[in-house]
Amino acid sequence: MFSKSLLALAALATAAFGAQLTDFQTEMHNVGQALDGEPAGFMTKIEGVDTYVTLPKGLRAKPREAVVFLTDIFGLALVNSKLLADQFAAKGFATFAPDYLNGDPVPVNQTGFNMTAWSLRHTEVQTTPPLLSVIDGLSKFGVKKLAATGYCFGGLYILRLAQNNTIAVGATAHPSALSVPDDFLKLSDIGKTPLQIHSAELDTAFTQALAATADSVLNATGTFSDLTPYAPGYNRINHLGVGHGFAVRPANASDPVQIAAMQAAFSETVDWFSKHL
Ligand SMILES: *[C@@H]1O[C@H](CO)[C@@H](O)[C@H](O)[C@H]1NC(C)=O
Ligand SMILES: *[C@@H]1O[C@H](CO)[C@@H](O)[C@H](O)[C@H]1NC(C)=O
Ligand SMILES: *[C@@H]1O[C@H](CO)[C@@H](O)[C@H](O)[C@H]1NC(C)=O
Ligand SMILES: *[C@@H]1O[C@H](CO)[C@@H](O)[C@H](O)[C@H]1NC(C)=O
Ligand SMILES: *[C@@H]1O[C@H](CO)[C@@H](O)[C@H](O)[C@H]1NC(C)=O
Repeated sequence: MFSKSLLALAALATAAFGAQLTDFQTEMHNVGQALDGEPAGFMTKIEGVDTYVTLPKGLRAKPREAVVFLTDIFGLALVNSKLLADQFAAKGFATFAPDYLNGDPVPVNQTGFNMTAWSLRHTEVQTTPPLLSVIDGLSKFGVKKLAATGYCFGGLYILRLAQNNTIAVGATAHPSALSVPDDFLKLSDIGKTPLQIHSAELDTAFTQALAATADSVLNATGTFSDLTPYAPGYNRINHLGVGHGFAVRPANASDPVQIAAMQAAFSETVDWFSKHL
C-alpha cells in the first residue's frame, strides 16, 4: 500500500507545490496578533545555524532531553514563537528553536509579498539541512531524547522527523503542506514516534476533513480499516471556535476563547511530551 502511495506522491509533485503554496498563503493572511512580552532566552549558533535557546531556570547539568521548537513561516522574527518556546522552558524543558528559514522569514502584515517566490526558497531541500544540523549539534551536546513541536510550516517537519524516528515524541498544531493521506500512511508504515495533532475547527489549510482522514489512517478505521492502529500512540485534539495559527498567533489576543485555546494546546502538548519522553 505504501509503495503505491509513493508512486502517487511522485506523480502529484506539481500539484503538491500548489497545495503547499495555498497553505502558506492562508497562513500569511492569518497572521493574528503579536503577543506582549520579552523573550527570556538567547540566540546562539549551533553547528553554524542561528538558534533560539531557552532553558529552565536553574538548569546546570547538560540536558539529556530537549524540545525542538519549529516555527511557522514568520520564524523567530515574530516574538510569539520565542515567548511560546519560553513557556516550554518554564515547564522544565531545555528548548531549541532553529532558524530553519535561513534568515528569511515571511514579514508580517506586508502587502504584495511574493509568496510563490518564498515557497520556492523554502522547500524541504533548503529547510531540512539546518534542522538536521541543529539536531546533530544537540546530540553532540549530550541530548539523548528529543521531543519536537511544530506550528503551521513546522508541521510537515514534525511528520518528517516522526517518519524518520529522529525524535522520541512529536506534536503539531495546524500543520500545513502535508500530503494527506500519504504522510500519515508513511508514518503508519514505518513510524515509531507518538504523534499529537492540534486541529482547529475553522482551519482552511489543515481542514476538518483532512484531520478526519489522518484519524482514519492512524486509527485504522473506514477506508483504512485494513491497516493496524498506530501502535506508538496517536492523539488529536480539536479546538473549537479557532482557526489556522491559533496555537501561536491568536486571531484576537483580547478574546478569551482564542487565548484559552492557545493555552490548552500548549498544556496538552506538555502533557503529551511528559507522557512519552
Ligand atoms: C497584523 O495586522 C493586524 C491588523 O492591523 C493587527 O491586528 C495585528 O496585530 C498584526 N499582527 C502582527 C503580528 O503584528
Ligand atoms: C513571484 O515570484 C514568482 C517565482 O519567482 C515569479 O514567477 C512571479 O513573477 C513573481 N510575481 C510577482 C508579482 O513579482
Ligand atoms: C528523512 O529521511 C529521508 C530519507 O532518508 C531524508 O531524505 C530526509 O532528509 C529526512 N528528513 C528529516 C527531517 O529527517
Ligand atoms: C483514535 O484512537 C484513539 C486510541 O484508540 C482514541 O482515543 C481516539 O478517540 C480515536 N480518535 C478518533 C478520532 O477516532
Ligand atoms: C476581540 O475580542 C474582544 C473580547 O471578546 C472583543 O471585545 C473585540 O471586539 C474583538 N475584536 C475583534 C476585532 O473582533
